Amino acid sequence: VGTVRLAVIPGDGIGPEVVGEALRALDAAVAGSDVAFEQTPFSLGAARYLETGDVLTDDDLAAIKEHDAILLGAVGGVPGDPRLAGANIERGLLLKLRFELDHYVNLRPTVLHPGVSSPLAHPGEVDFVVVREGTEGPYVGNGGAIRVGTPAEVANEVSVNTAYGVERVVRYAFAAASDRPRKRLTLVHKTNVLVFAGSLWKRTVDAVAAEYPDVAVDYLHVDAATIFLVTDPARFDVIVTDNLFGDILTDLAGAISGGIGLAASGNINPDGRFPSMFEPVHGSAPDIAGKGIADPTAAILSVALLLDHLGHPEQAAKVQRAVAADIAERGDMRRSTSEVGDAIVARIGAHD
Ligand code: NAD
Ligand code: IPM
Ligand code: MN
Repeated sequence: VGTVRLAVIPGDGIGPEVVGEALRALDAAVAGSDVAFEQTPFSLGAARYLETGDVLTDDDLAAIKEHDAILLGAVGGVPGDPRLAGANIERGLLLKLRFELDHYVNLRPTVLHPGVSSPLAHPGEVDFVVVREGTEGPYVGNGGAIRVGTPAEVANEVSVNTAYGVERVVRYAFAAASDRPRKRLTLVHKTNVLVFAGSLWKRTVDAVAAEYPDVAVDYLHVDAATIFLVTDPARFDVIVTDNLFGDILTDLAGAISGGIGLAASGNINPDGRFPSMFEPVHGSAPDIAGKGIADPTAAILSVALLLDHLGHPEQAAKVQRAVAADIAERGDMRRSTSEVGDAIVARIGAHD
């Protein structure tokens, strides 16, 4: 009920292409309901930076904070472009938003929908969610280099893990596991090598586990987790892990569940102090940008996560059902971005 203020950041490359379809799906999902969205577009990303020199100004950030939620397409230029060296878009825009808006849960559900062909011969029933920590780890920029460009160069990138930061994301993951039918949680880390951070994560999981006797807990080293994601992904229910491991595992999760073009995510601030941000897991895909062939499904499913987060489960379910029905019938069909959008929007609009 009421009007939702939505900040829209289409971004670069295929970002604007997929966000266009996602917004059509959003319109269709809320049509005829008492939920209305008021959109504010933000022109941010590599293209804007190369034109104006601005990545994310204080004014941009303050304006974004005035919204209830954010929909983002993808940001980033062509990898290797010397003008974007230093990852200023990734660090200065995407990660800055995740950090400033305290998106400590990066939620990445993975479902192998019926009818989708997985590259795995025997995937089984794949339905898990990765709860990726979003504000710490090696992402925080706690690093530096000396004697750069000389044979004596030293480059450090230190992973930051705080008791506060680990506990809050682990608590979220247990609550999520407890709400799911299989009630299973897997901690993924690398405790056999990263002993300090690994110990903190392990002790935190053990302590919170005592409060959730209904949740079955296990542990995998991240390298072994990649084996099981390929040989037996059906074993996973909730995976909780740090920022970098979670990044890597979720591209793999996308690949085994029908492709990165289907993988949606939410950067959640569970306290509700700041707007949460919803985006496809994929990037700006410079190799296919401008061709009109990007799959908008991940962006559309991100809209379903957004609706759910904002307390509109019926509208979210409409989007999810429409996508599932489309996926079940798409087979090897080659369609353009807008053809996929048309098909899903038509299904959302149809009475079911
Ligand atoms: P990418 O996800 O953009 O592309 C990887 C591969 O997947 C490419 O072959 C691409 O064509 C394909 N692909 C991605 N999305 C697709 C879709 N919707 N439909 C069909 N195919 C799709 O990853 P990358 O090439 O490593 O990164 C490109 C740029 O995007 C970099 O600047 C990177 O930093 C940035 N990036 C941004 C985000 C984000 O904004 N959230 C996420 C990841 C990468
Ligand atoms: C993602 C992306 C980002 C990340 C990059 C672009 C900073 O790969 O959203 O998965 O590593 O989190
Ligand atoms: Mn990634």
